[in-house]
Amino acid sequence: MSNKISKTDTQLAATGRPKRRPAHTVSYPPERASTILFPTYEDFTSGDRPLLYGRFGTTTHRAFEQSIAALEEATYVHLAPSGLAAITLTIIALSAPGSHVLVTDNAYDPVRGFCDRLLNQLGIDTEYYNPRTGKNIEQLIRPETTVILAESPGSLTFEVQDIPAIAKVAAQKSVPLLVDNTWAASYFFKPLTAGAAISILSATKYIAGHADCLLGTIATNDASLSVKIGRTLRQIGSNVSSDDVFLAHRGLRTLAARLPVHERHGLALAKWLSERPEIATVLHPALTSHPDNALWKRDFTGASGLFGFILKPCDEQQVAAFCNSMTYFGMGYSWGGFESLLIPTPPQKYRSTVPWTHNGTLMRVHAGLEDVGDLVNDLDLAFAAFNAAKDTKG
Ligand SMILES: Cc1ncc(COP(=O)(O)O)c(C=O)c1O
Repeated sequence: MSNKISKTDTQLAATGRPKRRPAHTVSYPPERASTILFPTYEDFTSGDRPLLYGRFGTTTHRAFEQSIAALEEATYVHLAPSGLAAITLTIIALSAPGSHVLVTDNAYDPVRGFCDRLLNQLGIDTEYYNPRTGKNIEQLIRPETTVILAESPGSLTFEVQDIPAIAKVAAQKSVPLLVDNTWAASYFFKPLTAGAAISILSATKYIAGHADCLLGTIATNDASLSVKIGRTLRQIGSNVSSDDVFLAHRGLRTLAARLPVHERHGLALAKWLSERPEIATVLHPALTSHPDNALWKRDFTGASGLFGFILKPCDEQQVAAFCNSMTYFGMGYSWGGFESLLIPTPPQKYRSTVPWTHNGTLMRVHAGLEDVGDLVNDLDLAFAAFNAAKDTKG
């Protein structure tokens, strides 16, 4: 038997907590700092200063980065104040006026706001591509293309992208492929091992896991990309609080225990919802009815708890009655915490290349850790309220 730590679950428990003399706490504590003190002139003027100033992080940050590196199978990890900032600052780091960036049409919608306004203002052109384009992405790559952004599965509409095929073309063309891998939490799918240059997580979601902090992680094995990203984060003054890093690191310790429960509950709800007469389609990549199920099976080792369903056309007051009847499902943005969530969302507003053609309301579900029977019961009662609110007059 090898004594090397190799399995992700072991690494999630064992990494990022170095031994400290003469004894130490199990969890790495939140070391808060602006000023870092150097005991001697020699230490202050040394070229090798692992800690410099609070904005660049403390030992708390370094410990968490080590754990994310293990999760991502990455050499270099950078932290950003949110998942959105991790995506936007990476795009800025790798682009310049005149650049062209390719962004999947199902990207998390605030990324589109950033591309359409700030990037546009900086003279950087965004082209939205069909998430199902696969290796045909090649036809869209121009000499001035600096980044390809993928998000798989899309966190509203759940298309699975052929990341290995896109990564292959991107590598041939020397364009970094950046994957927003928040859905799989780099537990059920690892973009770097599939050939992507950069994996990004909103650690706000499953990594932190308790809906109580915001954080983004950027992981790569490419030294020159890491230098560019690190420099941009420093120049922009990006900073992450030690307390948030502490919370995210604590959450990461139980990721391997939580995700399979989210998966089981998500699948149970998705299957139950598939039988409901009020529903047109359930969008869950692990269901055989999902158009990308074969791709999901090929590339992923599991599913998280986030999925969607489309109601058959109905009145708005029915959707309101459904939502107002829920007890355990909360209504609010974000996901990946211990709790169940359900919101109506309008994906048609965030599309430009592949129009969203479904005419029923899309509901996004996050299956939490509550008893799944209680969750089913909650939805059952919500459908009763939904049906009772149907306008029978018109
Ligand atoms: C897929 C995806 N990426 C990125 C983000 C942004 O993360 P944050 O809220 O940490 O900025 C979100 C947030 O909902 C998301 O769903």
